[in-house]
Amino acid sequence: MKDTFKAVKIFDDVYWVGAIDWDIRHFHGYLTSRGTTYNAFLILTDKVTLIDTVKASASDEMFARIASVIDPEKIDYIVSNHAEMDHSGALPEAIKRIQPEKVFATKMGAKALGQHFDLPCDITIVGDGETLDLGSDKITFAETKMCHWPDSMVTYQHGRQILYTQDAFGMHLAGLERYADEYDQTILDYEATKYYANILMHLAGFIDKTLEKLTALNLDISMIAPDHGPIWRTPEDIAKIIGDYSRWSAQKPTDKVVVVYDSMWGSTAKMARAIGEGLSEGGVKAKLMSMSSCHRSDVVTEILDAGGLVVGSATMNNNMQPAMADVTTYAGGLKPRNLVAGAFGSYGWSGEASKNLQAWLEGLGLNVITDPLRVNYVPNSDDLATCRQFGIDIAKATLASLQGNE
Ligand SMILES: Cc1cc2nc3c(=O)[nH]c(=O)nc-3n(C[C@H](O)[C@H](O)[C@H](O)COP(=O)(O)O)c2cc1C
Ligand SMILES: [Fe+2]
Ligand SMILES: [Fe+2]
Repeated sequence: MKDTFKAVKIFDDVYWVGAIDWDIRHFHGYLTSRGTTYNAFLILTDKVTLIDTVKASASDEMFARIASVIDPEKIDYIVSNHAEMDHSGALPEAIKRIQPEKVFATKMGAKALGQHFDLPCDITIVGDGETLDLGSDKITFAETKMCHWPDSMVTYQHGRQILYTQDAFGMHLAGLERYADEYDQTILDYEATKYYANILMHLAGFIDKTLEKLTALNLDISMIAPDHGPIWRTPEDIAKIIGDYSRWSAQKPTDKVVVVYDSMWGSTAKMARAIGEGLSEGGVKAKLMSMSSCHRSDVVTEILDAGGLVVGSATMNNNMQPAMADVTTYAGGLKPRNLVAGAFGSYGWSGEASKNLQAWLEGLGLNVITDPLRVNYVPNSDDLATCRQFGIDIAKATLASLQGNE
């Protein structure tokens, strides 16, 4: 395999030895439309060091890439920046095959790895800010708790000025090009936003701490090398992705209102379309997302930089429709903030759906500006006029909230 899967040179002594997962589409509830990569990095210093591994099913590819430049048994150290299995799945096999002198992780990382695997060696715990001498270069570890898990840390390679950031600054994007500047900017923007929204949005406070910590460390960074997707290597790209994280963590609202809904016989859908017309009339950009055609992970991507959220459902068996229960469970866990909000829906006799959606919005602490808008069965032209006005009202409240957020 090593003649097929080669390590990709980043510097003379730094190689990408990860794996490309072209096929994956479902990543714990997240639609990974463009696949992903699991990145691992090989540093050929006096102490040969492997930064992270890959998903267990991709270990052959990682070993082949390593073997294309060095006998894997020559690896002295393995650093585990993050214990989640997309980065640690191949670790047990790596330890068995390589028999490294040491495996490094944070205290929480050592604990989590022990709770995932029956590892044949002890993990050496590294402290926050600790530096490890690799001979011809050195690396420093910085804990980045809850970015993504309690065990997460980043590793900085001084000589090459590379910051290995595990999940942070990553995206799910399969490809053989290793650098962000080799991809289409629109794709990068969408996939980086989608990754943040779906994996990190609810951890904004921890993202802020990570950004503050990196600023305080005052590192010269030539590359940000995450564990998924391409490496950021131009000063513009590095500044942009850090700036994006800072903007996303603030969840700064914009003049976009997302309307998420589901409908059995089209009445709630008609309401949604009339609300959309009102939103546009009121001066905001409306984005209608029917749950029969949109994926929950694309919905939260749109919510991340919205200024308003309107949710609608027909009532079905005294409840909201199942697709709305799905998206509200998922989006609720990601704790969207700074949104003007409203609920609506068509019903026959009891009409719980829009009330339950309203309660969901209120539970998230969003700025719900009005009672739920309900229509009995099929909306007539008066009902549609009311829906349109509802959209105008939401638009005005959204624009007013932007002024408060400037
Ligand atoms: C399977 C099913 C279950 C329903 N259960 C309820 C219910 O429990 N309470 C209620 O008010 N309406 C209920 N309805 C009536 C719908 O809410 C009503 O037909 C509504 O107009 C459908 O809106 P839609 O066209 O957006 O699907 C039910 C309809 C169906 C088809
Ligand atoms: Fe993770
Ligand atoms: Fe990951």
